[in-house]
Amino acid sequence: MASGSALLRGRVALVTGSSRGIGRAVALRLAGMGASVVVTYRRRRDEALETARLAREAGVEAAVIQADMADLEQVERLARQALESMGRVDILVNNAGTGYAQVFHKARVDLVVREIHADLLGPILLTRALLPGMIERGWGRIINVSSIAATHGAPYLAGYSAAKAGLIGFTRSLAAEIAGSGVTVNAVAPGFVETRLGLSYFRWLQQTFGIPDPLKAYLNSIPPHRLVTTEEVASVVAFLASPEASGINGQVIILDAGATLAPGSLAGRPELEGAPRGGGAGAAAG
Ligand SMILES: NC(=O)c1ccc[n+]([C@@H]2O[C@H](COP(=O)([O-])OP(=O)(O)OC[C@H]3O[C@@H](n4cnc5c(N)ncnc54)[C@H](OP(=O)(O)O)[C@@H]3O)[C@@H](O)[C@H]2O)c1
Repeated sequence: MASGSALLRGRVALVTGSSRGIGRAVALRLAGMGASVVVTYRRRRDEALETARLAREAGVEAAVIQADMADLEQVERLARQALESMGRVDILVNNAGTGYAQVFHKARVDLVVREIHADLLGPILLTRALLPGMIERGWGRIINVSSIAATHGAPYLAGYSAAKAGLIGFTRSLAAEIAGSGVTVNAVAPGFVETRLGLSYFRWLQQTFGIPDPLKAYLNSIPPHRLVTTEEVASVVAFLASPEASGINGQVIILDAGATLAPGSLAGRPELEGAPRGGGAGAAAG
């Protein structure tokens, strides 16, 4: 068996939105496993070039392509350019995403349309464009980046959550349709990750409602008391992309360090802070 660092040698991975955040961590992890990578971005070319430079340091080829996933013609062009520059795409990670926190009954419709296009229609069309080659070669991996906002809901993210939930339906149905072809389709649903996008939600809560430190309040209310890291998401995506995950198809892996387990059931972690709460040392449980 190939060593972990060579499991994807000869494969080409396209990771949308890999100029920073989760996408960059995924692209570099796949590069570290031997896959050549197509790095995509919407606006920040310098960041995409930096991801490509880091990927090349791992000894693989890297191409950089600009495309706004909300613009369906640009999505078609992205698929064409990726195939022209690399000859094939074996692994597609539909990672690029955007979300606009809004009070839904006052929401700007153009922003809702935009997030449905970027987070759902774009990935669907990109998958459609790249799937035929994978099926012909009898091997492929499609990994869709959804969110716990889709599986569990998140206030002020209704449009975003709808798009991300759509991605889950797409994942399951396409997986069922092409099961046995050698191509698998799975999704990951991360909890909040400390990236520009993740932190913007808490900033919005602060600015909109004047909550002093919404991130701290959130962390205090969830069992792990921490956010997920980009590396933790990359590890799971890399495993799903590897030949070793051939038996996993149509699944949604929730990747939240336990944030959606019994939320709010632990107010703080007194045993970690060394400060007894409630009845103090003599208090009986239950
Ligand atoms: N962070 C979280 O808490 C969290 C939780 C669950 C799921 N997710 C999902 O994880 C994925 C990555 O998010 P992230 O947290 O890593 O965000 P991020 O750090 O803000 O990075 C977003 C990436 O996507 C690109 N992008 C954004 N809108 C795009 C568009 N319309 N077309 C093409 N590229 C676009 C950005 O490129 P430019 O800068 O060039 O625009 C950037 O490369 C998203 O799908 C997000 O929904 C994030």
